[in-house]
Parts: sequence; structure tokens; C-alpha cells
Amino acid sequence: MHYPSWRQQLVRSLHLHRSKPEAKYFQVASTSLKGLPTLRTMVFRQFIDDTNLLASVTDMRSDKVMHWQNNYHTQLHWYFAKTREQYRISCHVSMLAKQNGEIVFINDYKPSFDKKPKAVLMEQWQNLSPTARGGFFVPAPKSLYKADDADCSALTTMVIEGSDSETSLNSEHAQDGQEPDRKAHATSKQIDADANYIKRNPSPYFVAVLFEPYKVDYLDLKTNPHTRQLHSLGGTEENPRPSESVWTCVRVHA
Ligand SMILES: Cc1cc2nc3c(=O)[nH]c(=O)nc-3n(C[C@H](O)[C@H](O)[C@H](O)COP(=O)(O)O)c2cc1C
Repeated sequence: MHYPSWRQQLVRSLHLHRSKPEAKYFQVASTSLKGLPTLRTMVFRQFIDDTNLLASVTDMRSDKVMHWQNNYHTQLHWYFAKTREQYRISCHVSMLAKQNGEIVFINDYKPSFDKKPKAVLMEQWQNLSPTARGGFFVPAPKSLYKADDADCSALTTMVIEGSDSETSLNSEHAQDGQEPDRKAHATSKQIDADANYIKRNPSPYFVAVLFEPYKVDYLDLKTNPHTRQLHSLGGTEENPRPSESVWTCVRVHA
């Protein structure tokens, strides 16, 4: 498989920063419905197989989802401190989520890849830590914080609602009347069962985000003079179809 040179450089940058978890954080742009720029930090999860698609995850209820449903153009900003490299990656963003029982694209941009949407979404969900998965069962981003929101355990019950699972998250209730030791043991088993259930059943708010690059502006401050490269995919900016196009790269002054 031949990858564009920006991708090879990015993989190298990630490798050189493998001991730094923060190297996987990038800044991601969207345009608000009023046309204003907005930014946030997100975690890079992985490339989808041998495509150039960069995967991340988010909550359906967050503002950016609505922004990207309205305008699928975005840019990622990534700075690698050790190697002093900056990547600005212009992308089209697509989002996968469960709707009416099916895993579907929830905005207008559909990247081309062989994998089934369901497999992509499930892989992203199952790769999360249990704690990160729990983050998709808390109150909506930007909803008002109330004192009893600190106890989020009750919120996880919503995932089970209407399920055909034999498990229930209400472990205490299920174990009523048992001796304390047995109850504790059964409760931990119940927690495992619940965790397994959640692992197989993504939160309805879980969104797999796929960024498909069409332009990469790369800057290396370690070299003297600094190295700046402009990578771009053939085709027009509005419609660069990766399967039909070739990446080109020119070096320019920084
Ligand atoms: C280090 C770090 C990593 C983050 N990773 C993610 C992420 O992967 N996905 C995500 O939706 N939000 C992530 N966030 C939170 C976002 O930056 C942001 O606060 C949240 O998604 C709400 O954004 P929005 O209101 O612009 O939609 C992260 C924040 C930090 C500080």
C-alpha cells in the first residue's frame, strides 16, 4: 500500500511521540450556524484500516455535530512539540451513529471505504475504555449542572431501557435479600455483565467521526530554513474523490 507522504510523516511524528499521550490530541474546527469559527480538542483514535481517514469520537448532543451537519468542511490542527512540527489538515468530515436501529451517516459527506459502517462504529466504541464509554451516558453537554448530577450511576440505566438483555444495571435491586458477601460477589458479577452489555450496545449518543483529508499544510521548525510543504489531493476542492485522485506535494517558503 502506498500512502501519501504527509501520512507517512504523520505516522512518524506519532511514533516519535508514542510516550506522550497528549500527542494524540488535535484541535478541530467547525463553523457555527451563524458562520462563526469554533474550535475544540479531540483525540485521534486511529486511521481506518489502510485509508487516509482519521477517526475520532464524539457525543451526538455536542454543538460540533450540528455544525458538521450544516457544513462538513473542517480543519485539524496538530502540533508535535518534540519534533516541532505543525500539521494543518483540511478535511471533509463524516459522522456515523445509530438512528432507528441502524448505523448510518448522519451528515451529507460519505467517504469511500470498504468497511461496513456498523463495523467502523462498533470498533470505535469497543476500543474506548469503560470509563470513556461511561461518558456517553451522562447529561447532555452544556445542560445545566445540578448537585445530584455528581451521581451518574442512575444514568446508565437508560442504555438498558427497552433492551432484550437478560442483564439489568439495577444490581442492588436485583440482589435484594442476599447475604452481604454473596451480594457483593453477585454485584461485581452484575457489574461485569452490565459492562459487557454496554460494550456490545453503544450509547445512542455515540458518534464515530471520520476526517477525510484533501489538503495538508505541513511546517517543520527544526530545519533551517524551516520546511513548509503543501500537500493536496487532485480534483477540485469541493469534490476531491480520493479514489480518482493523486496526492501532490510542493515545498514552499515558510
Ligand atoms: C485533552 C482533551 C481531549 C478531548 N477529546 C475529545 C474527543 O475526542 N471528542 C470530543 O467530542 N470531545 C473531546 N474533548 C472535549 C472537547 O474539547 C469539547 O469541550 C467538547 O467536545 C464540546 O465541544 P463542542 O461544544 O464544540 O461540540 C476533549 C477535551 C480535551 C481537553
